[in-house]
Amino acid sequence: GKAPDLKGRTILITAGPTREPLDPVRFISNHSSGKMGYALARQATLRGAQVVLISGPTNIEPPVGLYKFIPVETALEMEKAVLDNFNQAQVVIKAAAVADFRPKKYNLGKIKKQDGGMVIELVKNPDILQELGQKKQQQVLVGFAAETDEPEKNAVDKLKRKNLDFIVLNDITQEGAGFGSDTNIVKIIYRDGRIEVLPRMLKRDVADAILDRVLPYLN
Ligand code: PMT
Repeated sequence: GKAPDLKGRTILITAGPTREPLDPVRFISNHSSGKMGYALARQATLRGAQVVLISGPTNIEPPVGLYKFIPVETALEMEKAVLDNFNQAQVVIKAAAVADFRPKKYNLGKIKKQDGGMVIELVKNPDILQELGQKKQQQVLVGFAAETDEPEKNAVDKLKRKNLDFIVLNDITQEGAGFGSDTNIVKIIYRDGRIEVLPRMLKRDVADAILDRVLPYLN
């Protein structure tokens, strides 16, 4: 087993997708399974941390021994849960795939089939991680970036814009990386521009590698 090197630390982790409802039966979402975030929550718990897991809908059982488990559906619910728990955390790791947009209008009844096409108007969701970057005091902030085009450039932009300590980039065009799989292939990018390339590993081992890299930031 791992040493309890995160004992006494409170770590907030987000996982899974968000669901943005259109009507009582339909929503907009993405392919996040929650595996990456749950692996982080599990490994952090095994390493002695007090873990707050805030999760969109998944098919995974929450790890045993969590300090708090907060299930949410929408980005707005995730935002509230994250902000409510931010001050007590020393580390925040955002593995969730948050929908950037939500339908402008929620239809109380099921939307009827109609002839011709149909247009759904979307409005922007808040960028939760960017808000945390503005509020951050002593916290270590870690983000993920799921990219298809110019992955490193986009990840560096997010690292800076969101005021993160480091960002975990998964190139989701690679087999065995990103959404749904049990493995991930990541690069870790730091504020000083350093890039660390990790091989394909089980998400459990990627989680431990990320937690290892959080340790030096803790005081
Ligand atoms: O769940 P799995 O199936 O195991 O898949 C894992 C994963 C691919 C979902 C995960 O490894 C991952 O990359 N998560 C982040 C996916 C994502 O939404 O990336 P992004 O580039 O859109 O967002 C960048 C960062 O900002 C993320 O840390 C995200 O949580 C955060 N964000 C994004 C949008 C938003 N409105 N609020 C946010 O906080």
